[in-house]
Amino acid sequence: MVTGDPRPDAVGILGLGMYAPERVVDNHWMEGIVDTSDEWIVTRTGIRERRFAAAEDATSDLATRAAQAAMADAGVGPEDVDLIICARVIGDMMFPATAALVQRNLGARRAAAYDVVGGCSGWVYALHQARGMIAAGLYRRVLVIGAEVLSRILDFQDRSTCVLLGDAAGAVVLGPVPQGQGILSSHLGCDGNLWELMYLPGGGSRRPASHETVEQRLHYFRMNGRETYRHAVQVMEEASQVALREAGLTVADVDLFVPHQANLRIMQAVGRRLGLDDARIMVTVDRYGNTSSASIPVALEEARAAGRLERGSVALLVSFGTGLAWGAAVVRW
Ligand code: ACO
Repeated sequence: MVTGDPRPDAVGILGLGMYAPERVVDNHWMEGIVDTSDEWIVTRTGIRERRFAAAEDATSDLATRAAQAAMADAGVGPEDVDLIICARVIGDMMFPATAALVQRNLGARRAAAYDVVGGCSGWVYALHQARGMIAAGLYRRVLVIGAEVLSRILDFQDRSTCVLLGDAAGAVVLGPVPQGQGILSSHLGCDGNLWELMYLPGGGSRRPASHETVEQRLHYFRMNGRETYRHAVQVMEEASQVALREAGLTVADVDLFVPHQANLRIMQAVGRRLGLDDARIMVTVDRYGNTSSASIPVALEEARAAGRLERGSVALLVSFGTGLAWGAAVVRW
């Protein structure tokens, strides 16, 4: 913790990085596992391929590689990091926090570390927290990571879910930036009444792991896709509007729309509702599938690499996911 430091004028992204596993799993591979087709998956979701992590890698391994890339980009060493927040659905273990393992891997001895379990919105939740803590003068350099090895919770007997998810990690280093730059607004929300849209029933305190829970396949991801779709479009539009309003901007000011990459049709439907043409929507779901809390930082890094984020660009980030939890942020690059 930093004491006595002045409160910064604004908080922004000092460095950005990602890591994607080498193994590419295309839709034709899925055709050999479940009764599906490349045509169905592409038409309904926009997904063409996703990555699956190597057997020896867990969430903290992917998270560490993304964090190292972000730190190198920011020019920040392990001793400079004050706090590590790791957003994830599936950590290495139930506890300790995956962020603690990342802290060890990085040698970031000074850093506090904890996880945010906010589903696909976890990274935006973590961004909002880190922004607030830096703005309050509590910390100066915060690693905000989104990392997932979702392939480990896929039910390969359920074609409606196993084709959707993939593994990846993305990270940013947040810190003080000059007034008018960085995160201009951030906004979060949740409707816990909708928790049954997406969940993993087994292994927690309600249904502890047992032979029975394993036999009933309760340790796999479950989802009501159609209902999730309907709510996703609505909450993403509303959250985007709130974040833009709080930033004092309109849709016309947005250079790049970076939504959670779950389904191309959802992204385009939100874009249409907001009045954003497809050309301004960042799409990575075709190559990575839904990587949950990693999806937005990965999309940001891909956007930057493609020259779609330049100094001064305004990016609108918006997510939705299990909870049902959502979040949005407006960032001036
Ligand atoms: N291949 C072929 N057919 C399939 C597949 C598949 N992989 N999956 C489902 N189907 C079939 C269904 O069985 C159904 O057949 P039926 O009509 O004979 O019963 C038919 O396709 C239509 O099924 P729907 O579920 O109605 O299809 P829909 O058009 O809604 O698309 C999808 C399904 C892609 C899941 C969509 O609803 C969606 O994307 N929802 C949002 C999911 C999401 O974004 N989740 C994010 C959170 S993930 C997280 O939190 C980690």
